[in-house]
Amino acid sequence: MVRILLTGATGLIGGAVLHQALGRDDDVTWVCLVRCTSVEQGRQRVAARLERFSDPFTAQRLARKIEIVPGDFTRADSDMDPRLDACTHILHLAADTSWWGGERVFRTNHDGTLALARRARAMPGLKRFVHVGTAMICGADAPSLVEETAFPATAARHIVGYTESKAATETSLAEQFPDLPIVIARPSIVVGHSTLGAAPSSSILWVLRAADALRMLPCSPDSCVDIVPADWVAETLVGLLTKPDLKHDLYHLSAGAAGRTRWADVITTFEKADPSDGVRSFRQFDLDRDHTLLRKRFSEVFGLDDASKRAMLRATRAYYAFCALDLTFANDRLVEEGFERAPSLASYLPVCLANSAEIVEQFVDDIEMFAPVPAAPVSSPDLPLAATA
Ligand SMILES: NC(=O)c1ccc[n+]([C@@H]2O[C@H](COP(=O)([O-])OP(=O)(O)OC[C@H]3O[C@@H](n4cnc5c(N)ncnc54)[C@H](OP(=O)(O)O)[C@@H]3O)[C@@H](O)[C@H]2O)c1
Repeated sequence: MVRILLTGATGLIGGAVLHQALGRDDDVTWVCLVRCTSVEQGRQRVAARLERFSDPFTAQRLARKIEIVPGDFTRADSDMDPRLDACTHILHLAADTSWWGGERVFRTNHDGTLALARRARAMPGLKRFVHVGTAMICGADAPSLVEETAFPATAARHIVGYTESKAATETSLAEQFPDLPIVIARPSIVVGHSTLGAAPSSSILWVLRAADALRMLPCSPDSCVDIVPADWVAETLVGLLTKPDLKHDLYHLSAGAAGRTRWADVITTFEKADPSDGVRSFRQFDLDRDHTLLRKRFSEVFGLDDASKRAMLRATRAYYAFCALDLTFANDRLVEEGFERAPSLASYLPVCLANSAEIVEQFVDDIEMFAPVPAAPVSSPDLPLAATA
């Protein structure tokens, strides 16, 4: 009997996991810990996410296959629901992914994950606990090819509190829970779906499209981005969760050196998808020095006439800061373990562009990540990107 506790079922990757896993005819029970007031409301929340991957009828049918446990993972250690006791595996995806959420993000991601780990100790048949981190815990000063074991590092300089909270979580899990069968999975940057394109989510896809529309890059066209699709991440996570033996307890889920994408190739893909615009000419700019230039250009292309566009400008600056790092995350461990390589961004970006809405509309999928925190002043040193946008 395989009984998998899933957190984050209503999120992008959680939806991708369930969409694939529930379509299989196997003997696996998925137990989803969902924030909701009743089991039925929780089921409808999961169904709403699944609808992004299928039609409403299929989404309802799949959602009927799961067990819903209403709850908040940050209080899992006081949740004695017996349906949790018999879980054999945990896939912990839930997180506060806000970039500027301050203390709340740390409490949720770090303290909350430790609460879940304490609850896991009361699951006698637990075989594996996959904690999903992020490859971006490497911070801003990492070498351009990032190896798994070099991080978390206390000296890492984090651009946002979100990655800092994820790094601290890994450190605390290793220090405080050596008795649990924890495997860390760190996806790189998740964009789109390799066959469904932008339908399940336009998270981060809008950034690539905005860069194309702005014709501005904060880095050389020869620098790279390490991007993977949500369905590949989902498939690989389930593989890491259920493969009987793993050589390591820490993996990047990334494109790696062989699969990363040069910005020049992203631009070529846009040229092919939209030939009416001809050959694109991009301006390379300095993100710190030329922020007025970016603002002016953004205003010309998108306008700055409402709050969501101003939030989008701040978010664009923030993502550009990550793009400028030119990072690739080594994936040799995953490949040696026998997992399929991720499809290249260039191979599936056309699918994403084919069913994309307007860029500003697509930003809405990420808007919560960029909500300002009322308690923190905009000029705080923790918020350099917000302050300069
Ligand atoms: N997407 C990426 O590019 C990317 C890259 C690297 C790593 N990751 C990691 O992958 C994981 C999943 O990412 P995602 O993009 O799927 O995130 P997402 O779409 O933002 O979803 C976050 C999920 O966490 C749940 N959640 C948050 N706080 C919760 C709480 N206190 N109790 C219960 N559930 C809670 C949310 O539930 P509600 O619906 O109730 O809010 C939602 O289901 C995260 O750990 C993230 O750090 C993502």
